[in-house]
Amino acid sequence: MSPPPSPPSSPSSRFATGSLESNKLAPFNPIDSSAQTSALSFLSLTSSDVLFDLGCGDGRLLLAAARGTPGLRCVGVEYDRVYYDRAVSACEGAEGVEIIHGDVVNVDLSSATAVFVYLVPNGLKLVEEKLRGVLERGGRIVSYMFSVPGVVAKETGSAKGGCKVSLYDRSSLPGSPADQLKSSAADDEPRPDLPSPLSPSTPTLPP
Ligand SMILES: C[S@@+](CC[C@H](N)C(=O)[O-])C[C@H]1O[C@@H](n2cnc3c(N)ncnc32)[C@H](O)[C@@H]1O
Repeated sequence: MSPPPSPPSSPSSRFATGSLESNKLAPFNPIDSSAQTSALSFLSLTSSDVLFDLGCGDGRLLLAAARGTPGLRCVGVEYDRVYYDRAVSACEGAEGVEIIHGDVVNVDLSSATAVFVYLVPNGLKLVEEKLRGVLERGGRIVSYMFSVPGVVAKETGSAKGGCKVSLYDRSSLPGSPADQLKSSAADDEPRPDLPSPLSPSTPTLPP
């Protein structure tokens, strides 16, 4: 029996098709333009960056990033065929943008210097190790709405409607000098289980 014919190749080699798995890390809910502006400003992209949007939806953040930073390489990963197709057509004319049809859980982030995520907490948990690897290699991550587990944001801002935008970098990793400073500052905080020198429960000498 002859092997099944291989699928037709994409009209543009910039658009790769990956394997599909079924880890649902978030429903489609595109980022609004004000949050997108905050996220891109936190990422401080340069032409030598490689930006990944993990669960890129219709590709709007990548398109804005590519337009705003000529020379930037952008990679979107989207497992839903409908949004993948939308992202491919939205980014068709944009230089340096690649959209992968695949599962974020299986994607290789070794080339990523900057990552954007808008995923729900359980979804972030599934890619926690991958995200930590990006920070260990000196990359930065911006997460919209939810916190990346296991690390401490370097900076947090709020977009329109009060939604959180958080920036993470190497200093966010547990055990980093910045983290140790944060911990020693926390050690200096009064412990609620110990009487404070100024608390009313501190025994005082009778007059
Ligand atoms: C909240 S939307 C964010 C879309 C886009 N990043 C934005 O900010 O406009 C999350 C996206 O992740 C996609 N997604 C969820 N799980 C995924 C997975 N395991 N692999 C790839 N994409 C996934 C969804 O289909 C959806 O498009």
